[in-house]
Amino acid sequence: MILLTGGSGLLGTELQKYLNCYAPSHETMDITERYSVSSQFDLIAHCASYTDVAKAENDRETCYKTNVLGTKHMASLGIPIVYISTEYIFGGGKGNYSIDDSPDPINYYALTKLLGESMCSLAPSSMIIRCLFKPRPFKHSKACTDQWTTGDYVDKIAVIIAGIINGWNKKGHHVLHVGTERKSTYDLAKQSRPDVEPCLRSDIKSVKLPMDTSLQLNWRSNW
Ligand SMILES: NC(=O)c1ccc[n+]([C@@H]2O[C@H](COP(=O)([O-])OP(=O)(O)OC[C@H]3O[C@@H](n4cnc5c(N)ncnc54)[C@H](OP(=O)(O)O)[C@@H]3O)[C@@H](O)[C@H]2O)c1
Repeated sequence: MILLTGGSGLLGTELQKYLNCYAPSHETMDITERYSVSSQFDLIAHCASYTDVAKAENDRETCYKTNVLGTKHMASLGIPIVYISTEYIFGGGKGNYSIDDSPDPINYYALTKLLGESMCSLAPSSMIIRCLFKPRPFKHSKACTDQWTTGDYVDKIAVIIAGIINGWNKKGHHVLHVGTERKSTYDLAKQSRPDVEPCLRSDIKSVKLPMDTSLQLNWRSNW
């Protein structure tokens, strides 16, 4: 049986369609606290996270506690862990990032997700999945034409991640780059929201967005 954290979130809600899992609410299991869990769980799918990229800049303590200490707590339970990380651990200067490229996060949220990755070595085995996903339909009225990603809609990415989780032999420590073809955020947005208007990253004042965090995908071949 899988223990799924973040089950009420965008990805967690979608994953529950495909996983045999128990998904405690935030209130039932706050990951910033220490727990011991039942031996019935043979894998943790760790989706709980502080995800508000703009707010994280001024709410660093909560973001750190959730994304770094929370992941430390989950990885220390003695159970194989699947950790959902992000394209944003890369700064976006070059795109087509391989798992051997050095991370250079440009915002605090991404820094804590990177630190969370390092906590996974505390688990007996781990699968770090770097990805990006959006709700369908795209929720903003504008989307950037000068930002590129291998991310996709959450329904598509969740199917891939669920397949990886269900097929993993729970051995070793792995980093997977998951996604679809490289495209601009605007082109992705248009697929589900034809009236979306083009904008530039410099038009978005609330958060600093990386230019090209597209990944060299390795999830078909390397785990
Ligand atoms: N969205 C993206 O594009 C994207 C891209 C790459 C990676 N990721 C990663 O994918 C994972 C899922 O993201 P998402 O977009 O589905 O997130 P989300 O919709 O913001 O959901 C976050 C989940 O975490 C839970 N949570 C937050 N703090 C918690 C705590 N202290 N204890 C227990 N649960 C807590 C939330 O519960 P409440 O709502 O009840 O507080 C919610 O279920 C995260 O690790 C995120 O960093 C997301």
